[in-house]
Amino acid sequence: MIKTSVATLLEGTNLQQTVTINGWVRTFRSNRFIALNDGSTIHSIQCVLAFEDFDEVTLKRINTGAAIAVTGTLVESLGKGQRFEIQISELTILGNSNPEEYPIQPKRHSLEFLRENAHLRIRTNTFSAVMRVRSKLSFAVHKYFQDNGFHYVNTPIITGSDAEGAGEMFKVTNLDTKNPPLTTDGKIDYTKDFFGKETNLTVSGQLEAETYAMGLGKVYTFGPTFRAENSNTTRHLAEFWMIEPEMAFFDLDDNMDLAQDFIQYTVRYVLENCQDDLAFLDQRLTQEEKSKPAIERSEMTLLEKLNFVIDNNFKRVSYTEAFDILRNSKPNKKKKFKFPINEWGVDLQSEHERFLVEKHFKCPVILFDYPANIKAFYMRLNKDGKTVRAMDVLFPGIGEIVGGAQREERLDVLIQKMKALNIDEEELKWYLDLRKFGTCVHSGFGLGFERLVQFTTGMGNIRDVIPFPRTPQNAAF
Ligand code: 4AD
Ligand code: MG
Repeated sequence: MIKTSVATLLEGTNLQQTVTINGWVRTFRSNRFIALNDGSTIHSIQCVLAFEDFDEVTLKRINTGAAIAVTGTLVESLGKGQRFEIQISELTILGNSNPEEYPIQPKRHSLEFLRENAHLRIRTNTFSAVMRVRSKLSFAVHKYFQDNGFHYVNTPIITGSDAEGAGEMFKVTNLDTKNPPLTTDGKIDYTKDFFGKETNLTVSGQLEAETYAMGLGKVYTFGPTFRAENSNTTRHLAEFWMIEPEMAFFDLDDNMDLAQDFIQYTVRYVLENCQDDLAFLDQRLTQEEKSKPAIERSEMTLLEKLNFVIDNNFKRVSYTEAFDILRNSKPNKKKKFKFPINEWGVDLQSEHERFLVEKHFKCPVILFDYPANIKAFYMRLNKDGKTVRAMDVLFPGIGEIVGGAQREERLDVLIQKMKALNIDEEELKWYLDLRKFGTCVHSGFGLGFERLVQFTTGMGNIRDVIPFPRTPQNAAF
């Protein structure tokens, strides 16, 4: 008797053998056909029972959602829709599922409904496919970097520094919030807090990753990051996973080359290793697109989009060129943008990014050399004195998927910049030390993992590509 997985059985190598399989009932038809799924693949295996062999009570308990174990012979199926099936000789109900109460019935459920049942939604084809792809993508991330001489570093989750300077951080404290210790001028006295100072959940591991790149050469992080921004969009989470490579001796061009190569590798990896799941998700998206008005429909299917991204170079465009394109664009002239493009130096909104990617260039775009005053303090200042060596990778349907830069490696320039922005030098003394001792050209970027999962699975809402999404007003489970 071989205890195995549905995925293995469907390879057909155990034909005519007695096998045992555990799983959850998806459907039970005609008191005879059980579709059994165990999460190993999108496919369920058909298990056929002779109802004469089973008592009424057992048959009644074979409900959608029940956990069962079946033993039987793997045979070629004569029925339509599957190549193999199990002729059941033994069946055990491991866990009941009351059909009146079980929310995940074998019918189409809305994504909103499934979000409310996030603890059970993994038992649907859509979510199991998305989460298997997510798992494979995360393996591909490690594989890419490990195969290319990068070292994995774990940067702190609790931190005293605000890498992005955006101030959108979650406080970490164990002070009594009802009765906190106060300083003489009435402010909360954080010297009495657990760490003796104010601490937060990290928004990015970049600054700490830089210290490791200055000794290990090429490093990457892959961990959770937290942002308390009140963005209720289909692309923002308050807790998301970020991948941040950081490389000594890389300039911005090297950084852009790496970002493209890395993204293409991970997409190619899932195209090769998640074929069944992607075929299902491709169909799902095509179905969903049909319900949209014609002008909103994508010109490409999911699989076409993924293949397009791995086969084509990302278009590299400076902020200034992009600004000109946007200023002269039809939607800008017809005042269709919510944020009109008039003056050089404005930050680009997602409507502008999507226009560039989806309407103008029709391919992934890397924008670089942004105005200094809309980007973080650590980015390297260009000779013009007004732009910095920043880069954002913009993707169709997603907008910004990567944000990165060549770092300011010159001590005096960095100090000047920090002074202008009122950033405490004492607080970041360790960061300045990197510029004092063996400084060098270096670069890195951050890729929002969920946005990559969104792109590869074609899911419209970022809440549907992470097991338990955290968003404003929601931290269920
Ligand atoms: O552009 P960001 O803010 O860059 C940084 O944090 C840099 N320190 C990275 C670096 O250079 N090492 O964030 C990087 C990426 C974005 O491009 C986006 O894909 C994702 O992180 N991201 C989010 N994803 C989901 N929800 C949010 N609220 C996100 N904010 C950023
Ligand atoms: Mg960014």
